[in-house]
Amino acid sequence: MNVEQARPILQAQNLTRHYAINNGLFAKAGTVKALNGVSFSLGKKHTLAVVGESGCGKSTLARQLTLIEPASSGELIIKGVNVAQANLHELKYLRSQVQMVFQNPFASLNPRKQIAATLDEPLLINTKLEKAERAQRIAAMIARVGLRPEFGQRYPHMFSGGQRQRIAIARAMILNPSIVVADEPVSALDVSIQAQILNLFMDLQDEFGTSYVFISHNLSVVEHVADEVMVMYLGRVVEYGSKVDVFDKPFHPYTQALMSATPAIRPQDRRIKINIKGELPSPLNPPTGCAFHKRCPYAIDRCQLELPQLRSWEGRQVACHRLEELIG
Ligand SMILES: Nc1ncnc2c1ncn2[C@@H]1O[C@H](COP(=O)(O)OP(=O)(O)OP(=O)(O)O)[C@@H](O)[C@H]1O
Ligand code: SF4
Ligand SMILES: [Mg+2]
Repeated sequence: MNVEQARPILQAQNLTRHYAINNGLFAKAGTVKALNGVSFSLGKKHTLAVVGESGCGKSTLARQLTLIEPASSGELIIKGVNVAQANLHELKYLRSQVQMVFQNPFASLNPRKQIAATLDEPLLINTKLEKAERAQRIAAMIARVGLRPEFGQRYPHMFSGGQRQRIAIARAMILNPSIVVADEPVSALDVSIQAQILNLFMDLQDEFGTSYVFISHNLSVVEHVADEVMVMYLGRVVEYGSKVDVFDKPFHPYTQALMSATPAIRPQDRRIKINIKGELPSPLNPPTGCAFHKRCPYAIDRCQLELPQLRSWEGRQVACHRLEELIG
């Protein structure tokens, strides 16, 4: 691995996002701790998959990484620039370097704009390219995502869900960003289309060297695309490691539960099935100690009292008091 590959493109250190919830006009009802001290580092041409149940903070993380929303605390370093210390010029550059693909391509495309105009927008804002050069780049990108040249003159409603997601990917890729954050990018698509879109993501990564943060609740999808996997529970990371390691032998009881709830994964080698009992607790009023303790089959008294810290273990990070006993 050369130095360029080894240097992280994106680093998050203790990234935290809290939302104040108001009860009526003035009374503060509480604080939703949507994201609680998330740290990771993403290398060039790597894909970090972020997984966890609905409400665990995945989209909140996506909004921090794409600079849509500021962090409450913690640090975000993109291409060596600390976002909190960046000036306006640097921020504009960083925004162009971190693009987003949303779950619902219809909602994320302007229905009144022809596709070519939608793709032109980022070029107009971020480059000094002449009209003819921009048109050339747009045509090349439309072709690159597998659409026909004349589609540039059409409107979003004229396309299928899969085609619309191709357009959203083209818009994200047109500035050749270093990072694309994709938030459940195939969840709204028919299963038959999902693999095509995942392959497109992979092909584009191969060609342009883009790094991906790929958010998905679907572990089968994650297995297809990820280099590293970060499992989140109620705003915190509970397990983070290489995909091969995590899928081969999940350490955290919550990761094990997620895996056993996904029948397509290694059916030939199923571990003891762990059912996740009960609902995900509210981040407005999280349980004490380990947030998973009310649902964890291995919980002991200590788990109710003490928050388990992320610890390095065999090349990955895991937050569980009973790690040694459970995997021993
Ligand atoms: N602007 C906001 N104000 C208050 N609470 C918020 C806000 N945005 C998110 N939350 C809360 O933060 C928590 C995390 O939400 P988030 O949307 O990040 O979860 P998620 O993992 O993306 O879920 P899903 O899989 O359903 O998309 C949830 O409890 C959510 O209600
Ligand atoms: S710390 Fe306790 S409750 Fe949490 S995952 Fe580990 S064993 Fe289960
Ligand atoms: Mg979400």
